[in-house]
Amino acid sequence: MSEKQKILVTSALPYANGPLHVGQLAGAYLPADIFVRYHRRLGSDVVYICGSDEHGVAITLAADAQNTTPKAIVDFHHPRLKRTFERLNFTLDYYGRTSSPLHHETARAFFRVLHDAGYLSIHTGEQFYDSSADRWLPDRYVEGTCPHCGFENARGDECEGCGRWIEARTLIHPKSKLTGATPELRNTSHWYFRLSELQDEVKHWVEARDASMGWKPNVLNYCRSWFKDGLRDRPVTRDLDWGVKVPLDGAEGKAIYVWFENVLGYVSSTKEWAAEQGDPERWREFWLNRDCRLFHFIGKDNIVFHAILFPAMIFAYNEAVDEAERFVLPENIPANEFLNVEGKKLSTSRNWAVWVDDVLDAFPTDYLRYYMTFCLPETRDTDFSWYEFAERVNSELADIYGNLANRTLVFIQRYFDGVVPEPGESDDAARVLGSEVARLVGEVARSIEDFRFRGAAKLMMYVARAGNKYFDEQQPWITRREDPAACARTMYHLCQTLASLAIVSEPFVPASAARLAEQLGIPRKTYEGWLWEDAARDDLVPTGTKLGRTEVLFTKLEPEEIERQRAKLGKPLKTREEGPVNVLPLSEDRLDIADFTRLDLRVARIIAAERVPKAKKLLRLEVDLGLEKRQIVAGIAEFYEPEEIVGKLIVVVVNLKPAKLMGVQSRGMLLAATTVEGDGLRLVTLDGDITPGSKVS
Ligand code: MF3
Ligand code: ZN
Repeated sequence: MSEKQKILVTSALPYANGPLHVGQLAGAYLPADIFVRYHRRLGSDVVYICGSDEHGVAITLAADAQNTTPKAIVDFHHPRLKRTFERLNFTLDYYGRTSSPLHHETARAFFRVLHDAGYLSIHTGEQFYDSSADRWLPDRYVEGTCPHCGFENARGDECEGCGRWIEARTLIHPKSKLTGATPELRNTSHWYFRLSELQDEVKHWVEARDASMGWKPNVLNYCRSWFKDGLRDRPVTRDLDWGVKVPLDGAEGKAIYVWFENVLGYVSSTKEWAAEQGDPERWREFWLNRDCRLFHFIGKDNIVFHAILFPAMIFAYNEAVDEAERFVLPENIPANEFLNVEGKKLSTSRNWAVWVDDVLDAFPTDYLRYYMTFCLPETRDTDFSWYEFAERVNSELADIYGNLANRTLVFIQRYFDGVVPEPGESDDAARVLGSEVARLVGEVARSIEDFRFRGAAKLMMYVARAGNKYFDEQQPWITRREDPAACARTMYHLCQTLASLAIVSEPFVPASAARLAEQLGIPRKTYEGWLWEDAARDDLVPTGTKLGRTEVLFTKLEPEEIERQRAKLGKPLKTREEGPVNVLPLSEDRLDIADFTRLDLRVARIIAAERVPKAKKLLRLEVDLGLEKRQIVAGIAEFYEPEEIVGKLIVVVVNLKPAKLMGVQSRGMLLAATTVEGDGLRLVTLDGDITPGSKVS
């Protein structure tokens, strides 16, 4: 019995800290779905996995910025991301999340194996601590000047200036992202992954891939520069209480570094998929099978993690376990470059981004998929342009693809009662068309297999172009009267071309391809059962087939619609009817009344207010509490001018331990609401003129 080829495809797990933008779509997602759809058509046994990356500082930073909990952040964004992939018409087999218990279990077990095999060793060293916030500062919580290139806003894990991995400790002029304070170095212990010992193995493996598999030059170049610098041991634990707990004694308060567990999300999600299929062991047929072809689709910022760190983890693991438990390594890691937007670097913080859901609210999914395929940054950075979006849709999808379908089907409806006619004897023109289509089908396949999706889409469109050319040359509007047999032959062969088009265009514009098949009168099941190679046939739609209803496949875009989309650039997401962004689920954590009454809340009058120098967010307030006056520091400077709040009555928690913010003493905390709309903070004020010092409860 010949086993079906097993293919496992993954797309980078997006951080569940915001909606998906077109840059991400172009990097790790759209190419993967095209690739997967093609392989499904080949009849292979394909599993396509993705999910939300829910740990790490990307999440805790978002929570801190929005005054909420990491859990609230991921619980808000995970279902929305999942929905976005559905709207994109992706054929994901499973969309998981790294907060799932099975993921935690999988990651902890993996960590333990590496630990027991001697690949993790503990070191004590200095790390930044923010004493005013009483928290450790993992890598990205510190910013400063890059020690290598002098870039001023380098993050504590990586410099965007020179792309190097940085140790936060080495930053010049470090600053805490929590409070802006200069953090202090304190001793803490972490487990280091002995990457240096795996350098030869990983390097050898990458070089072998290069020779036999044709990895993309960008991926190889990254790897080579890493090998040249030499792989160094890396700390793979963090002082964070959000994440996968380190499964070792003496590791309280420590989480596994996000990049040491998120990649295992691919494995745990495959396990969850298998369980959902009612065959919990089936994940092994993919991950523990050396004949399975594994592909990781990613953006270039993820190369080091997928081409070096993850393979190194697998090498270490495989050495420690029995043959049958060994993981497969990726065959290829087709990483894409970056996508710019309208000529500028995409930036979510500066709102220079196009959000996938926004586009899908305005246009059919296939318009986005089609246009994006042409701006995939396969070999260099590319640009998303609304003008080109409209241009591709109007002059290719509508004028070439849609036109071929429409003119052919309308003609048959009108002159052949909507029934596919007899081909009669074939002729040269029909044979030329047939062989041209068959050739293109093969070329599209080769391009997809080589991860050249833009080229593939272009070739796919040539199938429609070939059909239009044949239509024009055969002039059925003339032969209809002068040579009915020739006219019937023409229309028959055009139907075959459309059927081929419905197959080869499916990876790119799946919904339209399915509609085309339906309009050709092909039953859904039949269409779904067609294999890729069937697209090269010239007899897919039998004579006598009754066409379905003919409808326009692609309507053209008007300039005003495009302008409306373009105008959104640069505007904050939250002010654009995006709905709630800060929805915190109502807490399930039940308090005893005693817990609540420990808080001493008092009415206070603001008697003075001024900005704290060099702190964008902080105001220093003097408040009258009746019995005494106090100084408090509040993070409201972005939302209130000092003058406008003097005299206001507010509520202050008076029995918090004093804290220092940017060197200024704060003896109390005022109450403020974080708006659901995400546009800031509003002071909690009082009804009527109440004497300061009055108790609130
Ligand atoms: N969340 C990461 C990012 O957005 C990608 C993680 S891919 C993973 O850059 F598989 F490794 F999780
Ligand atoms: Zn740098």
